[in-house]
Amino acid sequence: MATQTMGDKQSSTLDIHYQDKQVTLPLVRGSEDEVGVDIQKLRQATGLITLDPGYGNTGSCKSSITYIDGDQGILRYRGYDIAELAERSNFLEISWLLVFGELPTKKQLDEFSHEVTRHTLLHEDFKRFFDALPKDAHPMPVCAATVGALATYYQEPDSEKQIHSSIVRLLAKMPTIAACSYKHSIGQPFMYPRNSLGYSANFVHMMFATPCEEYHVDPLVERAIDLLLILHADHEQNCSTSTVRLVGSSQANLFACISAGISALWGPLHGGANQKVIEMLEQIAREEGNADRFIAKAKDKNDTTRLMGFGHRVYKNYDPRAMVLKRMCGEVIQKMGGSNKLLDIAMRLEEVALNDEYFISRKLYPNVDFYSGIIYKALGIPTNMFTVLFAMGRMPGWIAHWLEMRRDPDFRIGRPRQIYTGSTRRAYLPIEKR
Ligand code: CMC
Repeated sequence: MATQTMGDKQSSTLDIHYQDKQVTLPLVRGSEDEVGVDIQKLRQATGLITLDPGYGNTGSCKSSITYIDGDQGILRYRGYDIAELAERSNFLEISWLLVFGELPTKKQLDEFSHEVTRHTLLHEDFKRFFDALPKDAHPMPVCAATVGALATYYQEPDSEKQIHSSIVRLLAKMPTIAACSYKHSIGQPFMYPRNSLGYSANFVHMMFATPCEEYHVDPLVERAIDLLLILHADHEQNCSTSTVRLVGSSQANLFACISAGISALWGPLHGGANQKVIEMLEQIAREEGNADRFIAKAKDKNDTTRLMGFGHRVYKNYDPRAMVLKRMCGEVIQKMGGSNKLLDIAMRLEEVALNDEYFISRKLYPNVDFYSGIIYKALGIPTNMFTVLFAMGRMPGWIAHWLEMRRDPDFRIGRPRQIYTGSTRRAYLPIEKR
């Protein structure tokens, strides 16, 4: 096989010669000058397919939602820098921005907030649904099952009007579902949503209030939760978002696609890492805070231990979300009286890792999950709810990608190919001859 590029910078192509066949493939350039080879004609022209386990080199779509430059540590939603959004925006505004593409006007945001606020209730029959699930179930599969079950309550076909209603329902009901999954696990009555509260305050109220007494949401807790939701709102073609797109590519119902995304997020290599980070820090604390010993295990190729909350497929620099969260950690812990011990261990781990040849040469830095768990813990969020908070935050991103995929003129069902490595044709052996 021989390859060569042709043409000037703006109109390059890539020629591929394989045996007696040849194809000229166009290069596709993004708005930040990222370049990809469009291989759509490759197989038809040459019989070749590409092989890329883990998709490290494969662009699955064109997208205008989120831009990441992993080498520079840049993350932007619709062109806006994450640090600026974290400082100046709020989660419902970010949801609108991601889903509809522009920052909302005041009127648009007021109407959207009103709509979301008025769709937070779950159908009363959901109480029986939760009752059917074991109390000690992890809240992530409970949430995935409940979101999937929304499709049984809202059965209308996906018209544009219906899609809008589904988007509002998902954003509105996710905090209610999350809080119910927690209340179910501790045997407390579900708290109804309160329309007088903002999005994040309403969630905190449903989590921690009981019908027995008044509960006032601490503005610091409300702001911290809102900020965490903003930081998690989208991250382009990650595992769960790609899952939502792939399931959606069969034109499955939106609730079903989001349920699949929640399931994908649960894994410890993805959103589930925030829970694993706290478990790791607590384990180190029990072992007298020996960060160096843990780092040695994480480096040992004969040991499966990983430094959780470290490393990223895309970031080869400090994750900009972790940067915001690290700053926030000290502030929250100081005000809420959380565990300084865990923060101290985390900072020691970071210091050791960032000066260690193993982590330096592999460009492994703290990711979003490294500090988020410490903040959740200081805010009183139970450990097994951390990933649920991630899912709540990721909701507008999943929805935005699902919509973008549906409206893409190049839309086709997602169907990768494979290189088959099994047996070649062989004859069936009757059971007595095996
Ligand atoms: N601790 C120790 N070694 C690591 C770690 C880690 N956390 N992460 C990567 N490595 C090593 C890995 O062993 C490999 O070494 P070698 O080249 O000698 O084989 C090298 O670094 C490259 O790792 P990889 O597994 O090929 O990288 P990947 O891009 O496939 O995986 C990752 C990315 C995030 C799954 C991985 O870094 C990891 O497992 N991190 C810990 C889990 C975690 O924090 N996940 C949250 C990700 S951010 C939230 C989100 O999902 O969006």
